[in-house]
Amino acid sequence: MKILRTIQEIEEYTKAVKASGRTIGLVPTMGALHEGHLTLMRLARQSCDVVLASVFVNPVQFGPGEDYDAYPRQFEDDCAQLATVPVDAVFHPDPVVMYPSGYATYINVESAITQKLCGAKRPGHFRGVATVVVKLMNLARADKAFFGQKDAQQVVVIHRFVADLNLPVEVVMAPISREASGLARSSRNVYLSASERTAALVLHRSLQAAQTAFSQGEKECLRLKQIVQTVLGSEPLADPDYVELYSFPELADISRVQGPALLAIAVRIGRTRLIDNIILEAEKPCC
Ligand code: PAJ
Repeated sequence: MKILRTIQEIEEYTKAVKASGRTIGLVPTMGALHEGHLTLMRLARQSCDVVLASVFVNPVQFGPGEDYDAYPRQFEDDCAQLATVPVDAVFHPDPVVMYPSGYATYINVESAITQKLCGAKRPGHFRGVATVVVKLMNLARADKAFFGQKDAQQVVVIHRFVADLNLPVEVVMAPISREASGLARSSRNVYLSASERTAALVLHRSLQAAQTAFSQGEKECLRLKQIVQTVLGSEPLADPDYVELYSFPELADISRVQGPALLAIAVRIGRTRLIDNIILEAEKPCC
């Protein structure tokens, strides 16, 4: 597996791959890799000739007081996991490589889709995500780029700027990878103590309760959100940041679920902020 650290190294690598007529699948990550990331790598492996991962804790998507400094960094372990897929190359730049002195260009998706959910709670977050993902797509000369439903709003935002900027990249969304307990895999799970990890199971439990009610006919958004809030309220260590339900992928306000809808939550467990979601699909009429 090639390790690329500079702009010149990644540009030379991806230029040579494209010159030989091969396709490139990009999987951007911030490292501290887990099975959820590897699912994306394997998906890329299935449909692209070359898989290029990036491991970069992107400073510009973290707000003041967030966990940029504490974010787990374990590049050697990440490489060992990437080699099992196998991934062909990993781009692992220093922040100064991505944002050298004088850097001044940012991508702002000016739409209601960045004003809600994590966009409302983490001002500037999606500006940072969009900026780094555009740079990575360009450097990677990516034919396809792979993202997880775990960050469903992120996928919606990425679809928006890829369309708006006419980027020649196909965006692929992979389902959420969960532990057997139901807990969505996340690099931030390492922050949880043993008791917090148990408490964190309430996120998936609350979504499942809403899914069950939905399958049994409950379509009112207010009621579905209440069900989630009630289950979250039963866990003393859980402090909900938001519980929201929007049409998917438009993220438009709805009062009843009539088409695909995103039920998304952010919950603090102790000092750790976790997110999770499910997509509620209105039943297709039977044959
Ligand atoms: P990171 O949190 O490292 O996630 C990298 C990719 O893995 C994202 O597309 C995310 O949605 C996906 N992912 C994480 N946990 C997952 C899970 N349990 N199941 C499925 N997919 C999962 O998201 C980012 O990094 C950054 O914002 C990034 C896009 C790299 C830009 O800096």
